[in-house]
Amino acid sequence: MKYKGIIFDLDGVLVHTDKYHYLAWKQTADRLGIYFDEKINNKLRGVSRMASLEIILEGSTKKFSDGQKQKLAEEKNSVYRRYLEGLTQKDLGEGVLQTLEKLKAMGFKLAVGSSSRNAVLILKKTGIYGFFDAVSDGNNISKPKPDPEVFIKAAGMLGLMCGQCLVVEDAVSGVLAATAANMDCAAIGDAAKHKIATYNLESINQLTDIVS
Ligand code: BG6
Ligand code: MG
Repeated sequence: MKYKGIIFDLDGVLVHTDKYHYLAWKQTADRLGIYFDEKINNKLRGVSRMASLEIILEGSTKKFSDGQKQKLAEEKNSVYRRYLEGLTQKDLGEGVLQTLEKLKAMGFKLAVGSSSRNAVLILKKTGIYGFFDAVSDGNNISKPKPDPEVFIKAAGMLGLMCGQCLVVEDAVSGVLAATAANMDCAAIGDAAKHKIATYNLESINQLTDIVS
């Protein structure tokens, strides 16, 4: 088989957390009187928490100190984590559970490669933590996507070379990170529309065909 390992982005690929990111950022933006909509939210896919805040603050004429930015990011994260507390298996993307089961049965090593610092909480809440041999996330990287660090570390944790891994991504920044890591990438959702990945999927169910 062409690949030995599959590295999944989390938010927007495995779990529908994007709506909770949106609602939590919207609360902060509304309080500051900054315009924020789904289109701006799309720019935050795969982008780190602080970089997301910077994008939102572009909508304000005010200057914010580093301390204020830190507080705003913490405020958003505590609202976001309240949403995460209510996560269940129902928040998994359609076909995710079946796809993970099939890939495991086919003998692939599976990892998560996410910019999120809440990745383990999300994986546990949705009941899929046990599928993964490694979790590379916002806690073990110094450079966010589109830097390849998160995927290179995931491959290392799996004991594989980058070229043996396929990345699954919904964000343009994530596809760019996979490419920079010298990994093939299957794009779904927003990223698939840009046609910059190795494969463009309409559904995660197509993954098992690509890798077999
Ligand atoms: C990515 C999301 O997975 O994680 C981004 O696509 C988010 O929208 C980033 O900003 C950081 O997440 P967290 O949970 O650490 O704030
Ligand atoms: Mg994503």
